[in-house]
Amino acid sequence: MSRAFITGITGQDGSYLAEFLLEKGYRVYGTIRRTSTFSGERIQHLLKDIELIDADLLDQLSLVRALRYSRADEVYNLAAMSFVGNSFQQPIATAEYTGISVTRLLEAIQLCDWPIRFYQASTSEMFGKVQTVPQNEHTPFYPRSPYGVAKLYGHWSTVNFRESYNMFACSGILFNHESPRRGLEFVTRKISNAVARIKMGLQKKLALGNLEAQRDWGFAGDYVEAMWRILQRDCPEDFVIATGVTHSVRDFVVAAFAYVGISDWQSYLEIDPQLFRPAEVDQLIGDASKAHTKLEWYPEVRFEQLVAMMVESDLQRVSSESKSLHSVKTYSEARSHLAHQHVGTPLMSVPGLELGIVRGNASHKP
Ligand code: NAP
Ligand code: GDD
Repeated sequence: MSRAFITGITGQDGSYLAEFLLEKGYRVYGTIRRTSTFSGERIQHLLKDIELIDADLLDQLSLVRALRYSRADEVYNLAAMSFVGNSFQQPIATAEYTGISVTRLLEAIQLCDWPIRFYQASTSEMFGKVQTVPQNEHTPFYPRSPYGVAKLYGHWSTVNFRESYNMFACSGILFNHESPRRGLEFVTRKISNAVARIKMGLQKKLALGNLEAQRDWGFAGDYVEAMWRILQRDCPEDFVIATGVTHSVRDFVVAAFAYVGISDWQSYLEIDPQLFRPAEVDQLIGDASKAHTKLEWYPEVRFEQLVAMMVESDLQRVSSESKSLHSVKTYSEARSHLAHQHVGTPLMSVPGLELGIVRGNASHKP
């Protein structure tokens, strides 16, 4: 039985990848870091099938011990501080978690005395101020955020270990991928959640920043299969993974409101200058031809299906939360109900959650 080791198993991609690998018959190990509340809502349904190991990206020995315990054949490094907006507020922490930790893990792998294949979660954010349209494996990098800079370090570290030590180490340069499991601070989920709540009469406004930014949005469930395919080849290489179609944030807003039958979406929208980033990535669109040819990988979920999937999921969740809240009679019942609902990732919008997007004065105006 093959053994897989996933850092960041509690995240969006980690949860889909764990499901995918379990279906393939893998024994799956995942790292978790100590937090005051367990952040395992996305993997709750998998807990009986996977094994969790305590490890932190900043603690090199914890990585070595976790790897030795798992005796993994394949390592998927998905853990990172992954929110671009926050990276402007915490550039040093981002460099540590998202950049230097990649080298920590690569060195930990070198200390293991059995062969390991390594996958690094690289990103289209490395293209930043894009130098070609569309972007492929030959496009020069030009990151536009501390997150992009840190990921670029991790990317080159992966390439360098491959070339220096003949390691089977690969980067997947993945464009944005979303799902109902996406964190609430990312724009797609922020929109789908707000639209569902507006439809249910629980929220009046949706505050956003730059509506003109364009992203190549795919479905996370499709993308984790690409990660696995990258590690199944005879030789290690890097791949761009994308749909090849781009849409603006505005397109996502319009499609999400249209899904719930609201056409006058402008009356619900507020533009908040604080939500603009100090430097923006204006347009991303990927060319995944190499993945089509060499991995036989193609995305299945289209943009409209993705929007529908996310809004529908939030509608159902908001509706069931709202029904059970109304069935609560007393104050103490309500308190205990809310405590129960908030275990794990936040289920409702947290005001100011995404204010990490600004640092000083926003340079982009609406
Ligand atoms: P995510 O939902 O934010 O998950 C990030 C994961 O990293 C969580 O499991 C988190 O654990 C873990 N983590 C953070 N800091 C850690 C630390 N110090 N020690 C141990 N674990 C830590 O991200 P995602 O969307 O699944 O993305 C997965 C990876 O792909 C990330 O590296 C991201 O940068 C990259 N990526 C994502 C996209 C995308 O569009 N989703 C595109 C390209 C690349 P907690 O649960 O404890 O917070
Ligand atoms: N989060 C957020 N919140 N973004 C907003 C908002 C808002 O209120 N209003 C406008 N945006 C714009 C951002 O300025 C950005 O241009 C775009 O929406 C997408 O933002 P995010 O959803 O936060 O994602 P991202 O593209 O910055 O980063 C994601 O994709 C990368 C791959 O390209 C993350 O998943 C990264 O981890 C990933 O590497």
